[in-house]
Amino acid sequence: MILLEEAGRRLKTARERKPHDSQNFSCRRAHRAHPTHGNHRLRRQSDGRIPQIGSESGWRAAETSVSKSEAQKRNITLKIADAQQKQENQIKAIRSFVAQGVDAIFLAPVVATGWDAVLNEAKDARIPVILLDRDIETANKSLYLTAVTSDSVHEGVVAGEWLAKNVGTKPCNVVELQGTVGASVATNRKKGFDEAIAKHSNIKMIRSQTGDFTRAKGKEVTESFLKAENGGKNICALYAHNDDMAVGAIQAIKEAGLKPGKDVLIVSIDAVPDIFKAFIASEANATVELTPNMAGPAFDALIAFKEKGTAPPKWIQTESKLYTPTDDPQKIYDSKKGLGY
Ligand code: AHR
Repeated sequence: MILLEEAGRRLKTARERKPHDSQNFSCRRAHRAHPTHGNHRLRRQSDGRIPQIGSESGWRAAETSVSKSEAQKRNITLKIADAQQKQENQIKAIRSFVAQGVDAIFLAPVVATGWDAVLNEAKDARIPVILLDRDIETANKSLYLTAVTSDSVHEGVVAGEWLAKNVGTKPCNVVELQGTVGASVATNRKKGFDEAIAKHSNIKMIRSQTGDFTRAKGKEVTESFLKAENGGKNICALYAHNDDMAVGAIQAIKEAGLKPGKDVLIVSIDAVPDIFKAFIASEANATVELTPNMAGPAFDALIAFKEKGTAPPKWIQTESKLYTPTDDPQKIYDSKKGLGY
C-alpha cells in the first residue's frame, strides 16, 4: 500500500479536506464520474517513506524499490506499510491511511476478495484507491480509480504455449507451483496455463500445489512432487507462478540428482535477475516478464486525475514478454540487477 501526503504541513483529516474547485469543469465532471476526486491538485513533497504487501519475492522487492524511485522522480511522498502478506494487516493500514487523510492509496491486494467494506470507507473519505499488480473481486468498480496490472491469464497462456511448442508431440507430465491461494494472479496464471495445455492431449498436469510465491516453499513443495513422482522421473516440466519458486524448485531438482532445464523443463513468470542466472547455467528454459514498474503509470494516472480531472481507463495493462536463454541472458541480468531485485 502506498500513500501520498503533503510536504511540511500537518496532515489534514478527510473531513478537513476541501471539496475541489467547483469552477473547474473538468473537476466537476471527474467528481461526478469518481466521487473520490477530491483535491484537484496533487500535493507533493520530496521526503519519502514506503509501504508494501510483504516481501515474498525478488519481484516484490524490485516493485518496492521502483515505486520509491518513481515517487521521487515526481517529488511525491510515498509511505509503505509492510502487511506481511496478510489481508487483515492491509485493511488495518488502509484504515490508518484514511484516518490520516492521505491524498491517495495504492493497494496491491494480497487476495482478491473481501475489500468492499474498507474501500467504501476510503471512498466515503474521498480518497482515490489505485490497485497495483493484482485485481480484486467486487461488484462495485467505483471503489477504485484504476488497476495497473498485467493480463495474468495471458501470462499463463504464454507459459503454456511455450511448453506446448517445446515438447511437440512428446508425452509430458507437468507439475505446478501456484502462487498465494486467493491472489488474482495465482488464479489467473493457473487458468491461462490450463487453457493453453488443454489444446494438447500429450501434456498432462499431474500435480499442482501452492508454494506461496516464496523460494523456500517452492523448494519444499517440489521435494514432495519429486518424492511422489518416482524421484522426478515421471516429471517432464515444472510450471511456477513466479521465478522465486522456480529457483527453489531448481535447487530441489538438483538435490534429487536430476538436471533442471533438461530432465525437467522449467517455465515461470516475473523475469527476475536470478532466473537469467539460471538461463546462463542452462537450468531454466523460459520466463514471462512482469514489469516491476506498476507505480509509474499509477502516479501518472493519479496526477492527471487530480490536476486535470482526467479519468483514467479502469484497467492500465502492462506488457507481458516471453524470455528464453536465446535472449542474451547475461545482458538482461546486467540491466536488471540494479533495480532492487
Ligand atoms: O502480484 C505479482 C506477483 O506477486 C509476482 O509475480 C510474484 O513474484 C509476487 O509475489
